[in-house]
Amino acid sequence: MRIAVLGADGYLGWPTALHLSAQGHDVVAVDNLIRRRWDEECGTGSLVPISSMEARCARWQQVSGRSITWHNVDLRDRDAVEQLVVAIKPEAVVHFAEQRSAPYSMISPSHGVETQVNNLVGTLNLIYALRDHVPDCHLIKLGTMGEYGTPNIDIEEGFIEIDHNGRHDRMLYPKSPGSVYHLSKVHDSHNLEFACRVWDMRATDLNQGVVYGTTTDECAQHPELATRFDYDGIWGTVLNRYCVQAAVGEPLSVHGKGGQTRGFLDIRDTVRCIELAALNAPAPGEYRVFNQFTEQFSVLELAEKVKHARAAHGLETEIHHVPNPRRELEEHYYKARHQHLLDLGLQPHNLSDTLIDHVIQAVETNISRVRRETIAAAVDWRRGGGLYRAPAASTLATATAR
Ligand SMILES: NC(=O)c1ccc[n+]([C@@H]2O[C@H](COP(=O)([O-])OP(=O)(O)OC[C@H]3O[C@@H](n4cnc5c(N)ncnc54)[C@H](O)[C@@H]3O)[C@@H](O)[C@H]2O)c1
Repeated sequence: MRIAVLGADGYLGWPTALHLSAQGHDVVAVDNLIRRRWDEECGTGSLVPISSMEARCARWQQVSGRSITWHNVDLRDRDAVEQLVVAIKPEAVVHFAEQRSAPYSMISPSHGVETQVNNLVGTLNLIYALRDHVPDCHLIKLGTMGEYGTPNIDIEEGFIEIDHNGRHDRMLYPKSPGSVYHLSKVHDSHNLEFACRVWDMRATDLNQGVVYGTTTDECAQHPELATRFDYDGIWGTVLNRYCVQAAVGEPLSVHGKGGQTRGFLDIRDTVRCIELAALNAPAPGEYRVFNQFTEQFSVLELAEKVKHARAAHGLETEIHHVPNPRRELEEHYYKARHQHLLDLGLQPHNLSDTLIDHVIQAVETNISRVRRETIAAAVDWRRGGGLYRAPAASTLATATAR
């Protein structure tokens, strides 16, 4: 298949591009590198050094004998998106290319607006270009389990059967997102469902859980094929952050009581889930939702798992409960269905002490690059955002001007 991977410079996009290429697909990698600029703005950076897209693609060619074509395109630019789609005529598009940090979206009004404009406009430009030039193309779009929030009933995969006043219907599952970023994903989902229902497009909306891990089979083949690894309070996902705290000997910081329960998955399962979705396209006019995670844990359970993995090596790790900067329930019911990808053949890598050890070893290899001051949560939901740890005004001004 000819597959375009949008957001291919990111944590998940790059390993996915490699994995699809390794499976023999003709992969086109697309990104506008904005994430590297957001890092400059926030004073953050990948713990694992990452190469330029040019160097990565050249290295992949040399290691695997396969080529990935690289395009620097901003999805907010409608003409550029249209030209790209006309030029490559993809059979499938994997769309990772969004602002994906909830804390970033809550820093200030301009960060919230920037997040929704980037994500909604980019996705709409893509939908229109596909509709007009390759209407049969399968759009595989990354959403998030955070779209659902934490309802007091079971979470279904995208749709719910409802009986109301003696009548019955199957409707989109109600959403209750917890940040301006998560809201952008909800709006995207509605736009995708509309495009399938009204224009007969075909889309898979992957409501992904929180991803952990540093590497995949393909990324591990050469240091220049490594993907980024975020651990800071703005971009880092929770287990990756705990592993960094454990490696540097800091207490694991659990927000509030720590009962916040979410779906999680290993980065190796992310790339396999995308492949499974691509190989099993929906029918024209079908909008399909898969809940893409493999296990659910509370954040306190995760901290305890890291503590346990360290204890197996005779190392002591403290767990601290810190004030929760987010507005969210700290004790709640959570049971989310995640059957569709298993039915397609996903064989999950469950979270183990070995995986935690691997992540901590990867951190230890790059320990001199840890910026300790960036690990703590940096944005407070309840006070309407703001950075606790404001970057230098000059950095912010330069980044905003770009
Ligand atoms: N990482 C997770 O745990 C997780 C969990 C659930 C969902 N997701 C979703 O998966 C996707 C990828 O996440 P990630 O962790 O790889 O994020 P990331 O920030 O590492 O990568 C996103 C990439 O998209 C690019 N991008 C953003 N806006 C763009 C635009 N307008 N035009 C072109 N490129 C643009 C960025 O430069 C970046 O390289 C996101 O949509 C995210 O919401 C991620």
